[in-house]
Amino acid sequence: MEKNNIILIGFMGVGKGTIARGLVNNSSMFAIDTDDLIESMENRKIKKIFAEEGEPYFRNLEKKTALWLENSVKNTIISTGGGFYKQENINKIGKVIYLKSSFQGILDRINAAPNAANKLKKRPLLQNMEEATKLFDSRVPEYERVADIIVDVEKKPLENIVEEILGQI
Ligand code: S3P
Repeated sequence: MEKNNIILIGFMGVGKGTIARGLVNNSSMFAIDTDDLIESMENRKIKKIFAEEGEPYFRNLEKKTALWLENSVKNTIISTGGGFYKQENINKIGKVIYLKSSFQGILDRINAAPNAANKLKKRPLLQNMEEATKLFDSRVPEYERVADIIVDVEKKPLENIVEEILGQI
């Protein structure tokens, strides 16, 4: 079955949700977000799931979500949590687009947001900057490996990013 899904992957804070909404506003597609699906399924925030159950439990929920997406979702823009790219079936869900930026570019983007403190606070893996930098460095080659398309989003206006993605798919 041709699913026609678009999956946005990339590091925390790169703008996956914002870009998904930009794509929705410029196409007839609908968007969903894997973290939102998990939070509603669990009726608690990601931060709380990490604190109460630990990361492996969360990764298992991502796996369940990935299987459901593969079997049940089509014609949809799917924004994902920063670690969702690890799901073995990700390429079976749809076309994978890696939203690329430097770590500094991501921090600048977060800090420019009016709710910057909350954006940092809600992400358990962004609490320790030294650890987050290491995580970023280890993930970049992996994001590139699973991506069908790489889009450089650093310092680009949303309209340009949306246009570039729509032009490539
Ligand atoms: C994670 C990223 C988060 C969320 C969880 C783990 C990660 O999503 O899924 O905190 O492993 O990079 P965002 O990329 O939307 O922050």
